Amino acid sequence: MSLVTILPSGKAVDVAAGTTLLAAILASEALENHVCNGKMTCGACHIFVQEGRKGLSKINREENEKLDSIVGIGSKSRLACFATVLGTENISIELLSFGSGL
Ligand code: FES
Repeated sequence: MSLVTILPSGKAVDVAAGTTLLAAILASEALENHVCNGKMTCGACHIFVQEGRKGLSKINREENEKLDSIVGIGSKSRLACFATVLGTENISIELLSFGSGL
């Protein structure tokens, strides 16, 4: 299990290994806005990982290509429907750019 804290609301949710960050966000009720329902096509689930980056699955080529098409990405950027919690450490993510891939 990992505790995923979602900023700026500060809501937190315990999630099992294998859970996507998108599922954690939706479980926390911090946001219900995503466009492709986690089918990895819209890029609207762009988030910043503030802590616990090593507790997430690595970025694969498909996610990297999708991130490259989004304005405003940075070194902490991930797509919440691609990034899977490994259960090894707690994670803090920021939703400020959620929806920027639209
Ligand atoms: S929800 Fe559409 S790419 Fe993540």
